[in-house]
Amino acid sequence: MLLDALTRDMRKTIIAGNWKMNKTPAEATALLEELKPLVADAKSEVVACVPFVDLGIAIEAARDTNIKIGAQNCHWEESGAYTGEISAAMLKDIGVDYVVIGHSERRQYFGETDETVNKRVKAALAAGLKVIVCVGELLWERECNITNEVIARQIKLDLWDVTPEEMKNIVIAYEPVWAIGTGKTATAEQAEEVCDFIRMCLKTLYGLEVASAVTIQYGGSMNDQNAAELLAKTNVDGGLIGGASLVAEKFAAIVKAADASTTY
Ligand code: PGA
Repeated sequence: MLLDALTRDMRKTIIAGNWKMNKTPAEATALLEELKPLVADAKSEVVACVPFVDLGIAIEAARDTNIKIGAQNCHWEESGAYTGEISAAMLKDIGVDYVVIGHSERRQYFGETDETVNKRVKAALAAGLKVIVCVGELLWERECNITNEVIARQIKLDLWDVTPEEMKNIVIAYEPVWAIGTGKTATAEQAEEVCDFIRMCLKTLYGLEVASAVTIQYGGSMNDQNAAELLAKTNVDGGLIGGASLVAEKFAAIVKAADASTTY
């Protein structure tokens, strides 16, 4: 274990749903209405990262509750001729709190690179958003034993030029690509090993104090059955949940498991 177990208490436990391209505005309202009472007394931070068109109604539905609303991407420019894009300032203006940047599906299907991830991260921070930065290795990279190299490179490039002060608004999501939407969860030991390694990378870049305070989530087929075991690990400070975030009781059960794993 790199850092003392007590450091877990320095970090906010964050359970974020990544709805991906699911739920119309009407369905989003229904899901949030169902979720609200189930997570009303959560100790953990509860976030729903919804499609762009759902943001407005999601922010309305979550008003005066403990649910924070996030987007799933943003562009790096403030404005201009970027047809189809959404700026960080636009998200901030309508009351969005979080944005997911660098999800593996964006890297895989939409040409996202560490360079563009870094530009988006910087823009989102400048706009005052909290950023969930996704990193993770492909199955082939794990099999070739280069997981740590891949992760270290992503952390370094994705956070290039991010200041220690700005790190207060950064959450890292470790999402092994082979575990996303596949039903193949990393074991709790595998998740802890890489989350611990991520913290070590952050320590090298920012020092112990900053590194100890960053929330590191695990993502990849996390569900109501396996969450408790994963979240019991010292360096797994939360989860980024895809499939299971679309079912209110399942997502709420993960939030409960997260609450049970924290001592604050
Ligand atoms: P999953 O997705 O929980 O459906 O595997 C996680 C994610 O992609 O964030």
